[in-house]
Amino acid sequence: MSVHKEVRKVTTNVLQEMKRSGEKISMLTAYDYSLARIVDHAGIDVILVGDSASNVMAGHETTLPITLDQMIYHASSVIRAIDRALVVVDMPFGSYQGNSKEALSSAIRIMKESGAHSVKMEGGKEIKESIERILSAGIPVMGHLGLTPQSIYKFGTYNVRAKEEEEAKKLIEDAHVLEKTGCFALVLEKIPAALATQVAKEIAIPVIGIGAGGGVDGQVLVLHDMLGLNKEFSPRFLRRYLNLYDAITEAVSSYVEDVKSKDFPNEREQY
Ligand code: KIV
Repeated sequence: MSVHKEVRKVTTNVLQEMKRSGEKISMLTAYDYSLARIVDHAGIDVILVGDSASNVMAGHETTLPITLDQMIYHASSVIRAIDRALVVVDMPFGSYQGNSKEALSSAIRIMKESGAHSVKMEGGKEIKESIERILSAGIPVMGHLGLTPQSIYKFGTYNVRAKEEEEAKKLIEDAHVLEKTGCFALVLEKIPAALATQVAKEIAIPVIGIGAGGGVDGQVLVLHDMLGLNKEFSPRFLRRYLNLYDAITEAVSSYVEDVKSKDFPNEREQY
C-alpha cells in the first residue's frame, strides 16, 4: 500500500475557482531551493520567481540587469523544491519588449529549461501581440500593471502610480485588454486601493495586489522583505513577519565569538 499523500496542486483553474468562491490567493516570491521548499510546505498558493531577484539576490539597484539565463537558474532551483504551489516566472527586461517572436522564444526557454508553470510580463496593450503569441504556444501568462519596475527610468520614482485620472483610466483599459487577451491573472502594484478594488470587480480573472489594498483577490510580497532580511526597504504596504536581519546578525556574532574563544567545536562536536 502506498503511503504517498496526494497533494492538490494549484493550477490556473484553481486560482479562477478561488476568485469565484471568494477565497483569497496568497503569493510570495522565492528565488532558491531552500526557501522555496519552506514557502511551499507552509501552504503558499503561488510562488513568483520575481525579477526582484536582481535587487534582493544580486544587490542591483533596479530589476533591469537580471538576464534570462539568471532567471532560468533561479526558476529551476525553485521548481525542484515545489510540491503544491503554482510557479510563475518573471520575463526579465529585454527578453520580450523587442518583438513577439523574441518574446515567445524567451518564454519557451523559461518553460523548457526551468520546468516552470507560467510567466509574468509587465505592461498593457503595448505587449498584447507578444502575450497572444506566448498564449498560442500554451504558456499561461500573468499580467502586471501599475508600478512596473522595469519602467523605472520612465517613471523616475517608485511612488504610487495611477493617482491621476488619465493614468487610472489607461490602467483600467489595460486590465480589460489583458483579461480579453487571455491572461490568467493580473498583478497590480502600488496603486490606490479604490482603483485596485474597481479593477478586481470589473474583470473576471484573479487580481493580486502589492500595495494595492485589500479589495483585490490576493496579495503578494517579496519574501526577503516580509521576513525582515533588510532594514532599508520600508514602504507603507509592507508587513514584516520576522526580523531575520537581527536574528541572523545575532547568530553569526555568536558563532564568531565561539570560534574565537575556542568554545566551538566542543568535545561532542568532533570525531
Ligand atoms: O519581481 C517581483 O518581485 C514582482 C512583485 C513585486 C510582484 O514583480
